[in-house]
Amino acid sequence: MNSTPLFCAEPARKDTALRLAERFGLARVKQRPETGYWLELGDTRLSLETVGRHGSVYAEFVEGAARHRREQGGGRGQPVARAIGLKGGVAAPFVVDATAGLGRDGFVLASLGCRVTLVERSPVAAALLHDALERASVHPDTMDIAARMRLVHANSIDWLAALDEKERPDVVFVDPMFPDTGKSAAAKKDMQAFQHVIGDDLDTAALLEAAIAAARTRVVVKRPRLGPPIEGYPPSANLDGKSTRFDLYSIKALRPACGQG
Ligand SMILES: C[S@@+](CC[C@H](N)C(=O)[O-])C[C@H]1O[C@@H](n2cnc3c(N)ncnc32)[C@H](O)[C@@H]1O
Repeated sequence: MNSTPLFCAEPARKDTALRLAERFGLARVKQRPETGYWLELGDTRLSLETVGRHGSVYAEFVEGAARHRREQGGGRGQPVARAIGLKGGVAAPFVVDATAGLGRDGFVLASLGCRVTLVERSPVAAALLHDALERASVHPDTMDIAARMRLVHANSIDWLAALDEKERPDVVFVDPMFPDTGKSAAAKKDMQAFQHVIGDDLDTAALLEAAIAAARTRVVVKRPRLGPPIEGYPPSANLDGKSTRFDLYSIKALRPACGQG
């Protein structure tokens, strides 16, 4: 059982709280905790809460930064789009976001037309994602995008290894947690909370290996701009964003005989 409990602050949503607790293995508490971190289900959304450190953390695809990115995001010209190989008239690839987190990258890719499977192993992050996807799927501005997104609560290392040949994605996107990732105040708040609740991802080399074995065309790893690449395989190319770098691993270059699956 995960140690971050779920508190339902809205009696009318008790059934939703029960379903969330069951699906993601969350312990329910009757009183709002006074210390530590907890998930709180309110009348409009699920959020990760704490006292004194920072405000609410939640996944959001309809309003705020997600709306801004949807409306002004730079389309296929933005670095993440180029990193996954989206250009001109090329059909949007099927992407597995193997470290879904709060789904920001996955949502950008789905906004660009990709079918995206979001895989997240933390029950806390997965529950927050589930809630945001439910809200996005009933809002007229985002329902089409949400329909291209699917959430899987699993460890990507095992999940990727178990895929059938016909289920293999074109691209696997990987953005593991390292100390000090994220430059914006919002990202800092989210990552500070995730550091407490989830901790660093210490098995990235195994994840990269599983991603390379599963992807048909490429693996994209998002890194801090000056951070080292993940150990194991040298990237085939890099693409610099403002504060991040994308390391690209071409399957053709790594597995010449079977690169096109
Ligand atoms: C830095 S966050 C990703 C942020 C995300 N790109 C976004 O846009 O919100 C890393 C997330 O990957 C998840 N993660 C790391 N390794 C994983 C694995 N092997 N399988 C599934 N999830 C994993 C962590 O639990 C964490 O939620």
